[in-house]
Amino acid sequence: MTPTSPSVPPATDPHENDVGRRFLAHWPRLEAKLAEVYGGNPRWATFVAALKDRVWAAAIARPPALRDLDARREASPDWLGAPGQGVYTFYVERFAGDLPGVRKRLDYLDDLGVRWLHPLPLLKSRPGDSDGGFAVADYRQVDPRLGDMDDLEALAADLRDRDMGLILDVVCNHTAREHAWAAAARAGDQAYRDYYITLDAEEAAERERHLIDVFPDTAPGSFTFDPDMDGHVWTTFYPFQWDLNYANPAVFAEMLEVLVFLAAKGVQGFRLDSAPYLWKAAGTTSRNRPQAYAIVEAWREALAIIAPSTVLVAEAIESLDDVLPFFGRDGSGCDLAYNNAVMTALWGALADGDAGVFDRCLAASAGKPRRAAWLNYVRCHDDVIWNALAAYASPRDLDRWSAFYGQGGGFAHGRAFQTAGGGAPSTNGMAAALAGLAPGEGPGSAGAERLALLYGVIHALDGWPLIYMGDEIGLPNDEAYADDPLRATDGRWLHRPAMDWRAAARRNRAGTLEAELFTRFRQLGDRARALTDLGVAGPARPVELGSPAILAFERTEGARSLLCLANLTDVPRSAPLPATFSAATRDVLTGRERTGETIDLEPYDLVWLVTA
Ligand code: GLC
Repeated sequence: MTPTSPSVPPATDPHENDVGRRFLAHWPRLEAKLAEVYGGNPRWATFVAALKDRVWAAAIARPPALRDLDARREASPDWLGAPGQGVYTFYVERFAGDLPGVRKRLDYLDDLGVRWLHPLPLLKSRPGDSDGGFAVADYRQVDPRLGDMDDLEALAADLRDRDMGLILDVVCNHTAREHAWAAAARAGDQAYRDYYITLDAEEAAERERHLIDVFPDTAPGSFTFDPDMDGHVWTTFYPFQWDLNYANPAVFAEMLEVLVFLAAKGVQGFRLDSAPYLWKAAGTTSRNRPQAYAIVEAWREALAIIAPSTVLVAEAIESLDDVLPFFGRDGSGCDLAYNNAVMTALWGALADGDAGVFDRCLAASAGKPRRAAWLNYVRCHDDVIWNALAAYASPRDLDRWSAFYGQGGGFAHGRAFQTAGGGAPSTNGMAAALAGLAPGEGPGSAGAERLALLYGVIHALDGWPLIYMGDEIGLPNDEAYADDPLRATDGRWLHRPAMDWRAAARRNRAGTLEAELFTRFRQLGDRARALTDLGVAGPARPVELGSPAILAFERTEGARSLLCLANLTDVPRSAPLPATFSAATRDVLTGRERTGETIDLEPYDLVWLVTA
């Protein structure tokens, strides 16, 4: 299939000129990606012609208020690799009640120094259990409990004024059973029945043999019999989350319309939820198929024409080999991806007081392309999935970490969670609880030091650091979820507490835990951002110091290098420094100059050295 050559109408205004230029650059690539997935489809020619018109029209219709940002980012294509682009992620309702509430908290977030907000799903979800909003009933409406589209646009505009950005989830793998597409399908409309995948009992059973249950305890199996559909509907997650049928090009086009719609509201980034599951293929696990990568790449190319300042974030909690292609197999793909391997390995290394697994994962994560960035994190709203490290650690390691964090005995206060495909149970719990910071413990406690260490590491890595709501003040686990029938069955609510604003207010009172942690988190962002000549595009690489208790890695940009050192244990350690760092260096976090061939680290000490 040869891509058709783009025809660009003669430009009549500067914006059309820009769109024309982008169209020429990206349309052939977009078409090639689509041909990879849909080239053999009998509707290909009509589909691609209609899409071409739509992409052009959507780009022309880009709201003028957003064109400036497009122009600025296009003019500095390396902007993504600027250091210190912290992201704050939270549930709107838990953080501030609703969207107007979030707008009132922007000073708090500015004070923390984050540059991006990622509120978890806030579009209209199904009534009752909605998997934390991940069962979307309408992609064009804000959940009425949280506000409306005007509130969302106003938040996006507020953020732009502060030079900050908004990232939203696009739950692209599935809709709620209550979504209008699913309702039409249930009512018998064939066009909409083709939006979903309905199999007879035998076919479903055959597919099931190859699939891995995501929630084996609470939602076993990947199919749900639905009488209206007269068959077994593909439901990878909960029975009320219906997987979309991306073999149907109309579904690709619909989801592109969702991206276009939200981008026009001022959303600057899209977290592509459950991206690995987009393509199903008989006889396979139906995860991380080449077509799933091609679909994401095609969205990227389309947005490069329509809304070039936007970023795509891959949510792919998989083995690193399967995550890396989400950055694009030949240059265009997601701009960011969760660095799940390094995050999980960090916890493993902390439990063992041995950086080995972190080093292995970090070395492998260096395969990221320079134009993209990792989203580095310590915790998020989901469980820590040990099995995703299977390529880098033995089953015994995975079991040990799972038991350490989920069953007590060590310093951690987490809880075991169901796990996909058997193996080591995943772990739930807030970062503070997993780091062993018990409620009531003060600053300087080992738990507080461990928590600060973990965040210090992710702020030094090659990418954007993500702060999970409440970690900046050491918020503990929330046991109350167990009393709410809608949440009680899903243990992930243990680490989805409501923001404790009284505790947050203590960040201004010196000597409190909140003041200590908040200040350190803010400093991490500030100090990272100040390293303007040390962008985060280049890979971080582990450094061998001969002392596994000290986690060590280096990043280099041009003539500048940063060495991050973290003592993973509760005893003082020292280690020889690599030659480049034994001459004059500056400790970025304390501002002190230093020289010397060895470095001494206090328990859980964290040091960022830069060459002078
Ligand atoms: C993603 C979300 C998770 C959700 C699942 C299904 O993994 O992070 O919270 O349960 O997708 O949408």
